[in-house]
Amino acid sequence: MSTELNQLKIINGLEAIHSFIVFPEDLNYAGTLFGGKVLAEMDLAAAKATRRLLYGTGCDGAVTASLDKVDFKKPAHLGDIIELKASIIELGRTSIKIYVHVSKENQFGEIETICNATFIFVSLKSGQPCPHLCILANNKNQLHNL
Ligand SMILES: CC(C)(COP(=O)(O)OP(=O)(O)OC[C@H]1O[C@@H](n2cnc3c(N)ncnc32)[C@H](O)[C@@H]1OP(=O)(O)O)[C@@H](O)C(=O)NCCC(=O)NCCS
Repeated sequence: MSTELNQLKIINGLEAIHSFIVFPEDLNYAGTLFGGKVLAEMDLAAAKATRRLLYGTGCDGAVTASLDKVDFKKPAHLGDIIELKASIIELGRTSIKIYVHVSKENQFGEIETICNATFIFVSLKSGQPCPHLCILANNKNQLHNL
């Protein structure tokens, strides 16, 4: 435990911003942005935040373990800018909870939320769950999980 505490990485908020413009190949056959494309980009945004978290921890990387229910509130259209913001919100021993918010910006600069979801990633080393030894600065209670 004391060796592990020496290696603690204290995180003071960690976010990743990810964006793309809706191209013709991203559309479904109703002519709006395909939901599967949004889900893949959300997973990428969460992966970016997770990767930054894991720098210097000795873990090889992390995999997506789960994501919660996703409700698509608004369609997006050709040429819209889609912006995804991933924030690390909770840390377990090997699990990493990431909130991802997705918005669209249309040709007039109007911005609306499309959806959001919470992902759980698990940090790995040699294919097995690996303690990341990271804690959020605002949650020292997490120490008892280590
Ligand atoms: C995710 C995975 C590594 C978990 O392996 P495991 O041996 O079941 O892990 P453990 O039971 O030791 O749990 C490890 C951690 O993951 C969490 N976890 C595991 N499965 C979970 C799930 N479905 N949802 C949320 N958390 C989960 C546990 O709560 C635990 O968290 P903690 O260390 O912070 O307490 C394994 O199931 C896996 O490799 N899945 C495939 C991942 C993948 O390929 N994703 C890409 C999509 S195809």
